[in-house]
Amino acid sequence: MAEVVIVENADAAGALVAAEIVELIDGRPDAVLGLATGSTPLPVYQALRSRLAGRDVLPVRGFALDEYVGLDPAHPESYRSVITRDVVEPLGLDPRRIHVPNGAQATIQHAGDDYETAIDAAGGVDLQILGIGTDGHIGFNEPGSSFASRTRVKTLTEQTREDNARFFDSIDDVPRHCITQGLGTILRARHLVLLAFGEGKAQAVADAVEGPLSAILPGSAIQLHPHATVVVDEAAASRLRLADYYRYTYANKPDWQGI
Ligand code: F6R
Repeated sequence: MAEVVIVENADAAGALVAAEIVELIDGRPDAVLGLATGSTPLPVYQALRSRLAGRDVLPVRGFALDEYVGLDPAHPESYRSVITRDVVEPLGLDPRRIHVPNGAQATIQHAGDDYETAIDAAGGVDLQILGIGTDGHIGFNEPGSSFASRTRVKTLTEQTREDNARFFDSIDDVPRHCITQGLGTILRARHLVLLAFGEGKAQAVADAVEGPLSAILPGSAIQLHPHATVVVDEAAASRLRLADYYRYTYANKPDWQGI
C-alpha cells in the first residue's frame, strides 16, 4: 500500500515534497515532473521557488494532468494558464518543455493519443504530483474510470463542477468536459505523490488509501502502484484507520530511506 506521511500542515507537506523533487533534479537535471493543478499542490510549488532559485532548471520537463475542453488556453483558469502562472514562470522552467493536454475542440479526437505519445517519448514521468477530489477523482478521472484508462475526454461530475466553481465567475462558466491523463497513464509514473489537506478530503483519502480497489473511487488506483506516497495534514488523515501505525512507521523510518 501507499506510504502515508501525516504532517502538521500544508507548508510542511510542501517542504517535504519539494525536497524530494530537488533531490530528483539533482540526480537527473532533465527529470520529468507530473504536474497537478488546483489548490492542493500550491505549497509544493511555493516551496520549490526558494529551493530552485538560482539553479539551472531549464532542462526540467513536465506534463500536466489535465485540461478543460473548449476553454481558450488564454483564459486565466485554463490549466495551461494556471501551470504557466503557478509553475513555469515562478520556477523559471522552459515553457517548451512543459506540456498540458490540448483541450481544443478541433483536435480533441486525437489529443489523448498525442499526449500519451509525448509522455512516452519523454521516457515517462518520474514523479507525479496528485491532488484528490472530494468524489475521489485523481486527475479528472471521475468515479467509474477504468484503472487501465489512458489520456482521454471525460465528463466532469456536478460535484467537481461545484468544487471548481470558486475559480470562475459562476458555475455556468465551468466547462462540462475535460481531457485527463488516465488512471493507467498515472500508474505508469515512477513515483506517485498524492497530497490532501483539510477535513473535506478525509473520506476520499481514507477510501483511496484503505478502501477497496474500485473504479467508483478512482484514487484507490494508487494502491496498485509500487511507489506511492500520500502526504496529508491531520484533518485529511482524520478518517484513516491505521493513522497511528503510519505515524509510528514514519517516526521510525531508517535515515537512508526517502519518501
Ligand atoms: C488537478 C486535478 C484534480 C485536483 C483535485 C483536487 O490537476 O487533477 O484531481 O487535484 O480536483 O483539487 P484541489 O486541489 O483544488 O482541491
